[in-house]
Amino acid sequence: MSIIVENNIFHLTNGGVSYIIGILNDRLEHIYWGPAIKENDVSYITEKSHVIWSNDIDIETLEMPFYGTGDYRIPMLELQFDDGSRIIDLKCEAYEVFKGKKPLDGLPATFESDIYGVESLHLLFHDELKKIHLLMKYSIFENGAITRSVELFNKSSNIVKINKIHSASIDFLTCDFEVITLQGAWARERHICRQPVQKGLFQISSNRGHSSHTSNPFMALVSPSTTEMTGDVYGMNLIYSGNFQAQIEVSPFEVTRFQMGLSDFDFSWQLQPGCSFVTPEVVLVYSSSGLNGMSQIYHGLYKSNLCRSDYKNKNRPILINNWEATYFDFDEKKLLSIAEAGKSIGLEMFVLDDGWFGSRNDDRSSLGDWTVNINKLPNGLEDLAIKVNDIGLTFGLWIEPEMISPDSDLFRLHPEWCLHVPNRRKTETRHQLVLDLSRQEVCDYIIDTVSKVLESANIEYVKWDMNRSMTEIGSSSLNHLHQMEIGHRYILGLYNILETITSRFPNILFEGCSGGGGRFDGGMMYYMPQHWVSDNTDAYERLMIQYGTSLVYPVSAMGCHISDVPNHQTHRVIALESRAHIAMSGVFGFELDLSKVSDEEKDMMKKFVRFYKENRELYLYGDFYRLSSPFINNYGIWQHVSKDKTESIVCVFKKMHVPNMREKKFRLTGLDKDKLYCSEDDAIKMSGNTLMNVGLVIPKGKSDFESFIIKFVEAT
Ligand code: DGJ
Repeated sequence: MSIIVENNIFHLTNGGVSYIIGILNDRLEHIYWGPAIKENDVSYITEKSHVIWSNDIDIETLEMPFYGTGDYRIPMLELQFDDGSRIIDLKCEAYEVFKGKKPLDGLPATFESDIYGVESLHLLFHDELKKIHLLMKYSIFENGAITRSVELFNKSSNIVKINKIHSASIDFLTCDFEVITLQGAWARERHICRQPVQKGLFQISSNRGHSSHTSNPFMALVSPSTTEMTGDVYGMNLIYSGNFQAQIEVSPFEVTRFQMGLSDFDFSWQLQPGCSFVTPEVVLVYSSSGLNGMSQIYHGLYKSNLCRSDYKNKNRPILINNWEATYFDFDEKKLLSIAEAGKSIGLEMFVLDDGWFGSRNDDRSSLGDWTVNINKLPNGLEDLAIKVNDIGLTFGLWIEPEMISPDSDLFRLHPEWCLHVPNRRKTETRHQLVLDLSRQEVCDYIIDTVSKVLESANIEYVKWDMNRSMTEIGSSSLNHLHQMEIGHRYILGLYNILETITSRFPNILFEGCSGGGGRFDGGMMYYMPQHWVSDNTDAYERLMIQYGTSLVYPVSAMGCHISDVPNHQTHRVIALESRAHIAMSGVFGFELDLSKVSDEEKDMMKKFVRFYKENRELYLYGDFYRLSSPFINNYGIWQHVSKDKTESIVCVFKKMHVPNMREKKFRLTGLDKDKLYCSEDDAIKMSGNTLMNVGLVIPKGKSDFESFIIKFVEAT
């Protein structure tokens, strides 16, 4: 891995990938990103990619485009100065190459680890007239992932208004692409959406205040022929949990601009003299081996160089959560009966979900009042945790600290603490409002109350929920000039809270949640190793949601539970076996009233729990490959392979049963071609070569929504 600098050309490479930029014509130009290029060829490539044509820079391939000087495409940076002007003229002043990577002030970001080393390049530009400096930050990791972010310094004595500041922009000299995004809604998050790139502008974004169920901060450009295993992929993923934007613009000259960063919708920032603004980081991944190739790079990086929790490599407990078992209707006796039933099938943790605090018996009250609901739990949390521990399970707790119910003591005391605009309605979602995390005293209140709760009992896990998008985004603590900063200030406040709480309680396992998977992003992953994937636990729906999520995020980040049938979201009845197979391909857990489950089902559950415990490491920390997409095929298939390739689990889910159809054969992947593999029941014994080239015949089955898992081990 190295960063080579010659004649103002900067070549970032890990030997497999090259990313080349250069200062040409006083501008930072994008020269190349793709399979590694020999250093000798760099000058030739530079000459060929650099177009000098008229004064119109609209045709050039730029790395840092801005508005007003002849580039009419979407800019990365839009500023307005005190005299009203918007023209920027940035000249490179200095650069620095160094081993390692500096943290981003106040923002989560990737870092160096024992697994993947990293080298960085900082390029400093300045605008002589307006006295602003722009620092372009690049890093390349050993596995080929590249990160970019930007820091803008105001060295003048006037305020500079930022109207748009993206973290990365790249121009490709082709438009022969398709674009892949992860789209959805509550209960159907991160479905893979693939469509041709066409002339003009295409964008996805979130303007909801959180990264959202509707679009994930991820976008990839792929060749039209790219598959799961082959072809070019260029991915961008923003490490951020708030409003974002990803854009593509194909110019009349068939140059494709690909850009990502903070959303410029409802955003502007008054950059004060002497201050700087740091953008979140974009992680760029190129793969020539298709979507799986890209995913493996993201997974590897996020597991070892983004997630900070001590739990990132540890076995996660198999938990039972009471939400779908009881909703708000529980008492201590009921909870303990579920915990006991959980223990009897081998579970390891009991998690108490919503409804344990204030006077909360439904979703109409008490958010903000984080004291125990003594009508339901007269002996308190500490006593409940002791009783759960006595049963032999650890104890975890749900909390939603960013919210406030209008019917709460907190709201009665501090009505000004919610996001709101004076004299306008306060739109409630789920009867709740959003706390104004741009206010330091609100952040301090959250840190203080959450800390008190976590110190009050033997709590070893926290599910940190956030159940609504933002509306009436206003803060009574900021003057009119700063109102369009609130979305970003909220996220900075949140990160500050999470930094404090997770450092104060390093032994607690945190699971992120946002009405299911509404904030499933790299920003949250920095603080919390696992996240509730979706409120939809129907196995068929989860097949799609987990498949899509895995495009970027590792299996070890996905909270997946077996729930009851008929499913509470879809009313569908799917066999326990299929529900278990899909839920085991994640951080496995249960979410149903186990005290009502038949003995026969409990015996089956015991078997699944045993199997998961035996294979937990393979599931969570092995390599994950998608083999057949449920978005386009009747079969959704994926495979977990141990790092040493001695073990593998194949998970097959058939959507619809097709009558009078022959058996299907699927090629496996990721195995050692020279090893001999044997299925656990000894029925299949084949070399890796055969399994990967000829394939595995999978049973026809008999009904809809059937699944099979086959575990292979190296034959001795
Ligand atoms: C939304 C979460 O996604 C659910 O799992 C549950 O925790 C509820 N909130 C509780 O209100």
